[in-house]
Amino acid sequence: MTLSATTTSTSTRRGLHVITWGCQMNVYDSARMSDVLRPLGYEPVDAPDHADMIILNTCHIREKAVEKVFSELGRLRNIKNTREAEGKQTVIAVAGCVAQAEGQEILSRAPYVDIVMGPQTYHRLPEMVARAARAGGAVIETDFPAEQKFDFLPDSAAPQTAGNLTAFLTIQEGCDKFCSFCVVPYTRGAESSRPVTSVIAEARRMVESGVQEISLLGQNVNAYHGEGPDGKTWGLADLAYELAKIPGLTRIRYATSHPRDMDDSLINAHRDLPELMPFLHLPVQSGSDRILTAMNRGHTADEYREIIKKLRDVRPDMALSSDFIVGHPGETDEDFEQTMQLVRDVGFALAYSFKYSQRPGTPAAGAPLQVPEHVKDTRLQALQALLRQQQDDFAESLIGQTISVLLTGKGRKPGQITGRSPWLQPVHITGTEELIGQTVSVTITERLTNSLNGIMVKETVDA
Ligand code: 5AD
Ligand code: SF4
Repeated sequence: MTLSATTTSTSTRRGLHVITWGCQMNVYDSARMSDVLRPLGYEPVDAPDHADMIILNTCHIREKAVEKVFSELGRLRNIKNTREAEGKQTVIAVAGCVAQAEGQEILSRAPYVDIVMGPQTYHRLPEMVARAARAGGAVIETDFPAEQKFDFLPDSAAPQTAGNLTAFLTIQEGCDKFCSFCVVPYTRGAESSRPVTSVIAEARRMVESGVQEISLLGQNVNAYHGEGPDGKTWGLADLAYELAKIPGLTRIRYATSHPRDMDDSLINAHRDLPELMPFLHLPVQSGSDRILTAMNRGHTADEYREIIKKLRDVRPDMALSSDFIVGHPGETDEDFEQTMQLVRDVGFALAYSFKYSQRPGTPAAGAPLQVPEHVKDTRLQALQALLRQQQDDFAESLIGQTISVLLTGKGRKPGQITGRSPWLQPVHITGTEELIGQTVSVTITERLTNSLNGIMVKETVDA
């Protein structure tokens, strides 16, 4: 492929380097920030040393977030100084949830930062860049504006997904659930959903550019309640049925879900739509009713078990993934044992587990009965050992089975190509590059640490 750069005047071209930490929503936001800056002449460069603008897109969800940001900013300041000595300017912007929560602190401790912006303000980025250039001073934008940022972000001129077979699509943001431990309701603000037509239009554009698998994103994605073309409010199930009609869109996923919003219509969509992948990330955090209440999760451990049962009744190949927190204030050995029991009862294909960390401003941070660090360590080790075993068992159970694999790229070894299973595991097969982009039937032969080996038995399967 030959690319011509002659249409763009080199004098107006500027390098943009975005560093992304945290969740998939941040990955999506970083792509959209690149989109809004493209008309100003900013083109991605892969090293900060060559960038006229560096955006650090941060995550605040667990501990040491702030220290990590300041240490990275120290590194970026050195780059800025070196470039300045060469007569080049570098704009440093801090985005994401740490920017939202610690905006003032960043500007006072790191005065060389030019722009601080919260997640709701990215559509104003061009204006902020212009203001920073004019004023030569720092710009801070962390208020939650009344308008919806989704309405103001441009349709991607060169789709972020060009050439990709899989893509993320943010459909919902924010959270009103106020779990005791979580900063998201404070950093991402109240819940809001994109209108259905805008989501469908973006999904169509993605599919036209070659995408076959879309992961719908939102902090509380299954609380989605977007305005439908009929003027009614549509839930995630309604949206999924509509998306499944797009020809060429063979796989749909969504994350992250809350058990409270896992209603029957969504469970039935898993029964009706083969496009909805049989793999669900449904964080439960704890298996103890006492702790679930303290966490303000709004459901019991048995209600969670019941949801899983319903999902497996309609989709027997459904596999589950989850998040767990050990050592929430007040968690006793018995509470922790109930978490272990829930894990044994459900059986998870994948899970993320964390030691509780105090997030300033959240209710649990000031709660009595904080659990000592060494107790959290012991519990985390036990939980992770069990979860690792379950992950391996799940992968092992696929050996000998024939599954559908979307082939996405070259493998690590010559003559090998790699794809992903319905359960997001990387699968390696022997094959040539022409197969990339096809969904094929693969018999699994071997489990590696975090991936599978298999043999292709048939080209092109019904998804
Ligand atoms: N301490 C530990 N883990 C946390 N998470 C969110 N907040 C905290 C916290 N204060 C975890 C939860 C959530 C995941 C994204 O991060 O398990 O589901
Ligand atoms: Fe945080 Fe709870 Fe909202 Fe998830 S549901 S984003 S854990 S407050």
